[in-house]
Amino acid sequence: MKVAIGADHGGYALKETIKAHLREKGIDVQDLGTHSTASVDYPKFGFAVGSAVISGQADFGIVICGTGLGISMSANKIPGIRAAVCTETFSARLAREHNNANVLALGGRVTGVGLALDIVDVFLQTPFSGEVRHARRIDMIGAWERGETNALARASLPQVKAGVAPDPENLARDWQKILEEFWAQAKLRPGQILVLGCSTSEVVGQRIGRGSSLQVAETLLPPLLDRVRETGVFLAVQGCEHINRALVVEQACLDKYGLEEVTVLPALHAGGAMAVKAWESFARPVMVEKIQGHAGLDVGDTFIGMHLRPVVVPIRIAVAALGAAHITAARTRPRLIGGVRAVYPQ
Ligand code: RB5
Repeated sequence: MKVAIGADHGGYALKETIKAHLREKGIDVQDLGTHSTASVDYPKFGFAVGSAVISGQADFGIVICGTGLGISMSANKIPGIRAAVCTETFSARLAREHNNANVLALGGRVTGVGLALDIVDVFLQTPFSGEVRHARRIDMIGAWERGETNALARASLPQVKAGVAPDPENLARDWQKILEEFWAQAKLRPGQILVLGCSTSEVVGQRIGRGSSLQVAETLLPPLLDRVRETGVFLAVQGCEHINRALVVEQACLDKYGLEEVTVLPALHAGGAMAVKAWESFARPVMVEKIQGHAGLDVGDTFIGMHLRPVVVPIRIAVAALGAAHITAARTRPRLIGGVRAVYPQ
């Protein structure tokens, strides 16, 4: 095993002791300074040790300053470095088992020599557990470092057991939060149309169309129906691709907007659970293939955009997921028209 070690003046003495301790054990230690108690800047040594680990010159790094804080912050700026400040052996063990830390940070003015040596031994002897949940979380840190925000958003979605509907109480609570936020931003007026696309399969952690859940539809639709009825908004529930993403609306909506009715009955695997539920719950339900909604809520990436009127404007919702389904939302605004002299309301 190769270990790179570095310290500032606050960690110099402890570095020397640790270096001797490790060399006695036959461990190959690369000392990257500092080499005296003269005052120096800790970032330089944090970067040097972090770089030695990332380049593969060392398997692990040990960094020491007065508290372990400044030098760990510096090491952590090197992409791929996971430096953990430890003041006891429990954290040292979990830093390896859970976080797969590759740099140990110590405070030369905080931790006594005996304890510091125990921490070093535990850290270097403990393997990463390799458990999937820990690996996923570490991958998320890496994704952030690489700027892969999409991968990160996906990885951040709650992990639900595929095919098992999330606890209805939690689902209802999250849905309530989503609806509140959506309603506040969508500013729908009575008579306007809200398009809902919802893959109950994605909510239960399965691929769209693979695990339609009436139970999920039964949890989600009633509170939404209450809201649209209170506010006089028309709800249009989009069915799946197998019925051309046709939508269930109420006859009153069809009449108001002069929509063209089409004939198809939403079914579990040709329409989806939410469309089936809407068909059962609506007053005089009818199917339409074309509509131009004023706002839309999309649970599970069902692509409702084709049913929204131009111009579509995204709505950012703080609750990013419902069960395992990704949430997106949009409102619309009238097009800005005219030429160079046209004036627009602010
Ligand atoms: C140096 O005085 C001190 O600030 C440094 O060793 C370290 O504790 C920084 O976090």
